[in-house]
Amino acid sequence: MTLDLQEKFDAVIAHHDRIEPRDWMPEGYRKTLVRQIAQHAHSEIIGMQPEGNWIGRAPSLRRKAILLAKVQDEAGHGLYLYAACETLGVSRDELVEMLLTGRQKYSSIFNYPTLSYADVGTIGWLVDGAAICNQVPLCRTSYGPYGRAMIRICKEESFHQRQGYELLRTMMGGTDAQRQMVQESVDRFWWPSLMMFGPPDEESPNSARSIAWGIKRNGNDELRQRFVDMTVPQAEALGVTLPDPELRWNDERGHYDFGAPDWAELAAVIRGDGPCNAQRLAHRRAAHDDGAWVREAATAFAERSAR
Ligand SMILES: [Fe+2]
Ligand SMILES: [Fe+2]
Repeated sequence: MTLDLQEKFDAVIAHHDRIEPRDWMPEGYRKTLVRQIAQHAHSEIIGMQPEGNWIGRAPSLRRKAILLAKVQDEAGHGLYLYAACETLGVSRDELVEMLLTGRQKYSSIFNYPTLSYADVGTIGWLVDGAAICNQVPLCRTSYGPYGRAMIRICKEESFHQRQGYELLRTMMGGTDAQRQMVQESVDRFWWPSLMMFGPPDEESPNSARSIAWGIKRNGNDELRQRFVDMTVPQAEALGVTLPDPELRWNDERGHYDFGAPDWAELAAVIRGDGPCNAQRLAHRRAAHDDGAWVREAATAFAERSAR
């Protein structure tokens, strides 16, 4: 019986079709998806904080409207992804609990601080840009609800990247002080952006399994290369320098060569020792506690409506 189910599952994966919530799936596949989708959902929610920090200090009404829309989009992405994760038999309460207790992770990038308004532009350009490289292949992931959530998310991510680039371009056309602000911001975010793709493939034990299951479609190093190749011409057009002396075009490979990020730094940030880990989780816990009355009122209303 189980063999038939396994064969059917393998055939769906081999044909690049979708597995749906009602279908049988191996327990390892389900667990890997819960971990990946939850980590992704948590990243969207925690990712609202570094930029949310600047909403009250936006330099104009136009910039404020753009930033508000972007941060609200990230909340929506978190909700699509929590809903996709719930189809795997895990409740929203459990997911929130695992974020708040640190048992599930979120993207390392959101443990870095935002020190100037240029960071809003740099995050849009580099961080959302890296997210797009990671996420576009996930539109074809083997689990239906995840793939469909990603299609909606990717449409909004391309707006996020453009608004960031447009902000940086405006600043680069301004004063020397503004240009310096952009360069300083790019210097801080370049390496952490490359780390967003995770450790090198040979040190990423789950990667091969995820690719075999069709959850991931590409390795970490391949996606990192794609991001570098896409970003270098954009940096040249902007007039900023990427802080990597080893960065140069390789004619033979048809790709840019680049230096290795500081993997010890990535390991430290994932372990909880990044510059803002404690602050991000403390802020999230406080927001969760502040929202308790909303959840209680919604539950009471739902119970009364059902009667
Ligand atoms: Fe997002
Ligand atoms: Fe985004």
